[in-house]
Amino acid sequence: MSLKGKVAIVTGGASGIGRACSVRLAADGAAVAVWDLNAEGAEETVAAIEKAGGRAIACVGDAAEPEAVVASAARTRSMLGAPTILVNNAGITSFCRFIDIDEEAWDRMMRVNLKGPFLCTRAVVRDMLDAGWGRIINISSSSAQTGAPAMGHYAASKGGVIGFTKALAMEYAAQGITVNNIPPGFVDTPMLRSSPIDVDAAAAVAPMKRPGRPEDIAAACAYLASEEANYVTGQTLSVNGGRYLV
Ligand SMILES: NC(=O)c1ccc[n+]([C@@H]2O[C@H](COP(=O)([O-])OP(=O)(O)OC[C@H]3O[C@@H](n4cnc5c(N)ncnc54)[C@H](O)[C@@H]3O)[C@@H](O)[C@H]2O)c1
Repeated sequence: MSLKGKVAIVTGGASGIGRACSVRLAADGAAVAVWDLNAEGAEETVAAIEKAGGRAIACVGDAAEPEAVVASAARTRSMLGAPTILVNNAGITSFCRFIDIDEEAWDRMMRVNLKGPFLCTRAVVRDMLDAGWGRIINISSSSAQTGAPAMGHYAASKGGVIGFTKALAMEYAAQGITVNNIPPGFVDTPMLRSSPIDVDAAAAVAPMKRPGRPEDIAAACAYLASEEANYVTGQTLSVNGGRYLV
């Protein structure tokens, strides 16, 4: 699946799923802009890509802050060229009984998980329209499909990402831009390990008896970014080891 000549942005590319997507898209030939708040992690991802013979830059900033997003988009354009692949992956989670979710926690979740994808998409969609080709891949969550206790704000934000995906897919279908989402389920990343979820216990009752690997999500991301997926848009590609069957 060659992405040679394409420029990709992966938000949250310093860790976990975002790092795996960055490495995979670079291995498939794209030049990758690794956007993250975490400068050290972003540079580590860039180093891994360069070591494998790929091309990447780090853009350090908050993917939910309008000025930072515009600045990262400009840096990406000037260093790598116009981006036509965007992976909206940066996200946060937290576990909190509904009764204890205050407005600040709700707003923080919506800002990073839902407003962030809006801002990042807005910053680069014109590049895609100019190219007559684009791929937007939103990382949602299986918790928006299944529901999840103590995750009302998180599940709501990710449900919003799924609706956003479908709306944009319809709006841009005739202009060569596809928009899809991947809801991961239990992927072994720093986010999952720092949550109250007992990963091994959850894996034991999962159909495949193991958590997902970031590379499992990256493979789906690479497919959706590829030319082969040109007739796929507005879809939810569940990569979850059979945890939830659509
Ligand atoms: N791991 C799972 O089981 C799982 C399940 C469902 C959905 N997801 C989703 O997958 C995505 C990646 O999760 P992960 O498990 O790799 O998490 P992770 O915590 O390992 O990585 C998330 C990355 O996003 C970055 N980030 C967070 N807020 C940011 C911001 N405002 N601006 C820029 N960067 C920011 C972090 O610095 C980090 O590098 C998230 O959207 C998450 O909600 C993960």
